[in-house]
Amino acid sequence: MNARKDDDLDYETTGHIWDGIREYNKPLPRWWLWTFYATIVWGVGYTIAYPAWPGIKEATPGLLGFSTRAQVAEDIAAVEAANAEINAKLASVELTAIADDPELLTYATQAGGAVFRTWCAQCHGSGAAGVQAAGYPNLLDDAWLWGGDIESIHQTIAHGIRNENDPDARWSEMPAFGELLEDGEIPAVVNYVMSLSGEPMDASLVAQGQEVYDINCSGCHGEDAAGDIYQGAPNLSDAIWLYGGDYDTLVETVTYSRFGVMPSWADRLSDAEIRAVATYVHGLGGGE
Ligand code: HEC
Ligand code: HEC
Repeated sequence: MNARKDDDLDYETTGHIWDGIREYNKPLPRWWLWTFYATIVWGVGYTIAYPAWPGIKEATPGLLGFSTRAQVAEDIAAVEAANAEINAKLASVELTAIADDPELLTYATQAGGAVFRTWCAQCHGSGAAGVQAAGYPNLLDDAWLWGGDIESIHQTIAHGIRNENDPDARWSEMPAFGELLEDGEIPAVVNYVMSLSGEPMDASLVAQGQEVYDINCSGCHGEDAAGDIYQGAPNLSDAIWLYGGDYDTLVETVTYSRFGVMPSWADRLSDAEIRAVATYVHGLGGGE
């Protein structure tokens, strides 16, 4: 057995003994103690220099006047100042000239992508593919309700569609045909519309449906049903649907009509931002 004999050690003890075990009275190491004092001094200094002690309304501001909010504002101002020149250029050149200037085009596409993810993605989807059946169009394809050249896209974004706040918003209204057509005419015209994009339908109704179409629908959707970008009337022959191309959805669309609304952005985004996001959308693949 290796018994330890504490009695002959000449260390001072605290006089505490538990079960024969004594507690030494050893000083804390110097280095530890000084580090500890240093942190206290540093801590007190910090709370004097920086915002620290909570008050009723706000914390003590600190002698240095530091504020994270002010720092963010400063950083934003610095980025804005750095981009001021290119934003001014973006806001002033012809829309069609943006694509001719590679540096401007790259900047506009990147800035526009950021605007899109912040303001547009909740309706059009983060990949701009739209939300099927909800009336939010896919912006990647080359089917355009209101036109796909850069100027048309810019106009649509700046003023929106069927909103009450912008007098320059794009506007048109399809009548609700539930009140206008005779019994049987809606199923007929819907079967005709389905035949245009090659969907399976009741062929015996198509001839009557075409008559109904020619009289009631061709004025907006066109005699060939290719749509009309001046009225935002969709192409009905391309199997691309804003609200859906199945029989029930089409009956609903024709009976009650639709009224897709997009907000206006002219008073929420700067000219440069609207031009940037127009450039971004135009560059997604379907731009004309
Ligand atoms: C509140 C939902 C909503 C938001 C937010 C929104 N849009 Fe739209 N957008 C719509 C709807 C709905 C339509 C289709 C309207 C119609 O039926 O004519 C549309 C149509 C468009 C069109 C026309 C497409 C075509 O085929 O002609 C473009 C371009 C467009 N949006 C771009 C944008 C951009 C860019 C933003 C962000 C700055 C944005 N939208 C934000 C709902 C929205
Ligand atoms: C005054 C012009 C006008 C007339 C007349 C009109 N439409 Fe429309 N139609 C529109 C517009 C504008 C839209 C797009 C509504 C929206 O975007 O919310 C539309 C949308 C539609 C849609 C939805 C397409 C999709 O992609 O989901 C269908 C289907 C349709 N119309 C069928 C008809 C039929 C059938 C008739 C005739 C019985 C008709 N329309 C008459 C203007 C018209």
